Amino acid sequence: MDEPLIVVNCKTYATASGQAAETLATMMQDVETDARMVLAVSALDLGAVSRAAPELELWVQHLDPVSRGSNTGRVEPLTAIERGAKGTLTNHAERKVPLGDIDQLLAMIPANFEVCACAADTKEAKALAHLSPSMIAVEPPELIGGDISVTTADPSIVRDSVNAVSQIDDNVRVLCGAGIKNGQDVLAALDLGASGVLLASGVTKSPDIQSVLSELVSYI
Ligand code: G3P
Repeated sequence: MDEPLIVVNCKTYATASGQAAETLATMMQDVETDARMVLAVSALDLGAVSRAAPELELWVQHLDPVSRGSNTGRVEPLTAIERGAKGTLTNHAERKVPLGDIDQLLAMIPANFEVCACAADTKEAKALAHLSPSMIAVEPPELIGGDISVTTADPSIVRDSVNAVSQIDDNVRVLCGAGIKNGQDVLAALDLGASGVLLASGVTKSPDIQSVLSELVSYI
């Protein structure tokens, strides 16, 4: 089995933006674990975070399917890659995009660039699986930012999405997210068949981020 993924999404939290994003990245880089640690940063922070934590895998939170040219305000993939991005989130509940945009993005990025498409439910996970992104993260929007982990509140959405996606494309890994806070939640996600977790506030709102990071990987 591939190593479990722990993907921390910085969103626009003050504790994970600018200088704080650099500090968070160095903390993640220093966690001793067999898990694959990933930080999804704002495109604004990509270059600086990449210099601060060169060994940490960095994704951006969003990319647009545009090439270099007349695309004011869009987040252009080649520059993100030059600035250290090894992957991207797409279609996050807080940044939905049309299915066609994801398809176009997948057609223009290098083969080894990770694209983690987010789904609100199993139905959307199935639709996304037909596009064959590298990963799909299932996150019920109503649980995002809350205190109850998706693995406790709605374990069947994780299990059903894992099964449904594997029947469509066995190469697509499934993560789960929303309310993930600790190592028990990560363990539960893995037990449900997920390849890892996508989380934000459990890390970004913690008064002791270092301890949370260590705790998250404590059962791996
Ligand atoms: O992208 C991660 C996410 O939306 C879940 O957020 O704060 O519930 O861990 P949170």
